[in-house]
Amino acid sequence: MQDVINYIERNQPQFLEELKDFLRIPSISALPENKEDINRAAKFVEDKLKAAGLNKVEIFMTEGHPLIYGEWLGAPGKPTVLVYGHYDVQPVDPIELWQSAPFEPEIRDGKIWARGATDDKGQMFIHIKSVEAFFKEKGTLPVNVKFIIEGEEEIGSESLETFINSHTELLKCDAVLISDTSLFDEGIPTLTYGLRGISFMEVEVKGPGKDLHSGSFGGAVGNPINILAQMISKLQDKNGHIKIPGFYDDVRKATSEERKNFKRLPFSEKKFTKEVGVKQLQGEKGYSTLERIWVRPTCDCNGIIGGYTGKGAKTVLPSTALAKISMRLVPDQKPAKIAKLFTNYMKKIAPKSVTVTVRNIHGALPGITPLNSPATQAASIAMEKAFGRKTVYMREGGSIPIVNVFSTKLKAPAVLMGMGLDSENLHSPNEHFSLNHFRLGIMSSAYFLDEFSRK
Ligand code: BES
Ligand code: MN
Ligand code: MN
Repeated sequence: MQDVINYIERNQPQFLEELKDFLRIPSISALPENKEDINRAAKFVEDKLKAAGLNKVEIFMTEGHPLIYGEWLGAPGKPTVLVYGHYDVQPVDPIELWQSAPFEPEIRDGKIWARGATDDKGQMFIHIKSVEAFFKEKGTLPVNVKFIIEGEEEIGSESLETFINSHTELLKCDAVLISDTSLFDEGIPTLTYGLRGISFMEVEVKGPGKDLHSGSFGGAVGNPINILAQMISKLQDKNGHIKIPGFYDDVRKATSEERKNFKRLPFSEKKFTKEVGVKQLQGEKGYSTLERIWVRPTCDCNGIIGGYTGKGAKTVLPSTALAKISMRLVPDQKPAKIAKLFTNYMKKIAPKSVTVTVRNIHGALPGITPLNSPATQAASIAMEKAFGRKTVYMREGGSIPIVNVFSTKLKAPAVLMGMGLDSENLHSPNEHFSLNHFRLGIMSSAYFLDEFSRK
């Protein structure tokens, strides 16, 4: 293995130049005007997979954004690893808060700064480079490898789900390897075994047929913004408990062993509070911060639109108001059921004076991966070798919608070998990725392929 590790060490400058080229492509999946960039990013991934030494690399067009598939199946009798990642990125606004332009990657303070640096271009690139290192040093891989890289993760992974259903045989594997989550903290090798799901909803409140003068009509006509705000305030009680009837019915309790394990993790409330920039933390009563993020469901307003929001004052009683509300879900909650419960509750608490429309925008199931699978064991050893310390296990508050589809359709355990940090500003201005974790990530990936070949 030392030759492979040396190759990785030696080629860091070259790998970073290539990653910079990748990061220069503004592959924002949500914006139609970036469609050409999405296609360019897909082509980039295709080229890099080919250059790394995979054969049968192919771009699959979909109704949405292209998927890239690649494989090398030259190790008969050995297990097959499916690497998953996404080349799409989030929009960049508010652009004025970026220290350097989002698509002009820069290296400062041992980090690479650009949109997509940690989520997920930098992290997925790790596996392409570990495969390259093996081919360059040994001309072969210790296991069979398949790659499936998508461009719709940030908008719900619809095309990939369809693709998995129609290409189950093609994607058949013994484990799915994913780097799209976070380390517990700097330099701590971490395996994530739980992801939250999501139910994303929109609530529109319609009042008068047109905007009204708030002097002539205010007080006698229900104000949609006031009413929507009242409805939102009825989603939670003062203890942070969600009031939607039936909401908690399917929530699986964390085991006592799990809760003990969380307590053992080196988590600092103080550091966390400072990092997010609040005076005090707040959340559901009776649970620790990590439990609130990892094992409890939430309900949050993501955005609210309505009335006059320009400069100065305009006295108006608006005709409509709209809120975007998401609920993060935990096992065994199901987004379809939660969406129904939410809709019923919103309709029930709405006053007769307004019309309420509730829309189900998207949903994803939560996921739990087994900790005792040979793949997880191999990953744990691999990360320990690369990082030089013991691997910790954690859950994650965010979602990767397709992980559940992998486990139900391909019946293969997912290994969530994330190399990011929650503090790396994913989805925010000044996204970045630690160069050290990039390097250790490539080594972890290489050690994993080697370890897994013996399972
Ligand atoms: N890589 C993230 C998931 C994630 C978030 C991992 C936070 C670690 C920490 C992924 O790209 C993501 O942003 N997922 C979305 C999914 C949604 C659009 C359905 C999320 O969690 O909001
Ligand atoms: Mn991601
Ligand atoms: Mn993301």
